[in-house]
Amino acid sequence: MFDSMSKMSRLSSEQGEKIPEVRASAPRNRTIRLTEEETERLSEKICPMPCRKVSADEVSDCVIMGDMLAVMEFLPDSFADAVFLDPPYNLTKDFNGNVFRKRGDGAYFEYLMSWLPKIVRLMKENAAVYLCCDWKCTAACYEALRECGLNVRNRITWQREKGRSADDNWKNACEDIWYAVKGDEPIFHGDAVRMKRKVIAPYRTDGVPKDWNEEGNGRYRLTGASNFWDDLTVPFWSMRENTDHPTQKPEKLLAKLLLASTEAGGVVFDPFGGSGTTAVTARKLGRKFTSIEQSREYCCLTLKRLEMEETDSAIQGYEDGVFWERNSQPPKKQENHSISEDDELFLK
Ligand SMILES: C[S@@+](CC[C@H](N)C(=O)[O-])C[C@H]1O[C@@H](n2cnc3c(N)ncnc32)[C@H](O)[C@@H]1O
Repeated sequence: MFDSMSKMSRLSSEQGEKIPEVRASAPRNRTIRLTEEETERLSEKICPMPCRKVSADEVSDCVIMGDMLAVMEFLPDSFADAVFLDPPYNLTKDFNGNVFRKRGDGAYFEYLMSWLPKIVRLMKENAAVYLCCDWKCTAACYEALRECGLNVRNRITWQREKGRSADDNWKNACEDIWYAVKGDEPIFHGDAVRMKRKVIAPYRTDGVPKDWNEEGNGRYRLTGASNFWDDLTVPFWSMRENTDHPTQKPEKLLAKLLLASTEAGGVVFDPFGGSGTTAVTARKLGRKFTSIEQSREYCCLTLKRLEMEETDSAIQGYEDGVFWERNSQPPKKQENHSISEDDELFLK
């Protein structure tokens, strides 16, 4: 396992950035790690690779260890209400011993096409698929979705973190998530993903607040979610959801996608499960999941996070049914959930 320090250096080196080093043993480091005992115990809970066609119920809320291509052969047609795809980007990256190697653009497109058509079979009619990528492989992802006959509806760009600029290039601070649908009648719950923003110009009409409310010590407006997300940060060492997985997505990001594109009780499929962000967020929001991951350690991390969810089902940045701007939360809860000074240090 890498420590959180090395996660920081990997994030920075991937982008050619220099991020200041944080203390290795900072007292507020909340990174979720596995003991040997936990790895042994949780390994027992990993679902083995199926060896025959299985039903949706048999893989409901399962963390399956195996190669996604092989596992998918045994999954049922049309079982997923939504699919979250966070494959290795076109970068050389070590996923706990399984190294994905950077390749040419054409070869990366072929890599996508080796599994994406098989995903379509698993999707219900009108199910949504979200495909993550960076600026380098975004074109290949768009082409692959179209090639598979999916109806591409949007591209979300999210600002993943603050950090220092590279000296010789623009800072690489954004990622894309392509949103596509199998069919022409997408399910989209815009009301469920509204964002609560502080009002900068509190206009009034005849003395009455226009589109905003006075709450506690602030003035807020609920706004519709756009395809530019600047309210997220990649999980890091002092966040409760952080693990040592090198490319972990924030739960808040998954929460938006799941609330917009699934109903309570719906099934989300994630064939590149990693540290389990999709599974854990699905559980927190009353959805079901099927997750595949090749690394035993990452499967165990997922299971540990699912156990932790039993006593803490909060999603940082999503409270009272709304998404809050980065570094903000309901005034009444600020004491419990405030970003620590160390976080601020890193975020600046
Ligand atoms: C970008 S990461 C996903 C991170 C995840 N979204 C999270 O929040 O933790 C990609 C994951 O896919 C896994 N992976 C890559 N190729 C795989 C394959 N063929 N079968 C199963 N898992 C695979 C890697 O081990 C890695 O954990």
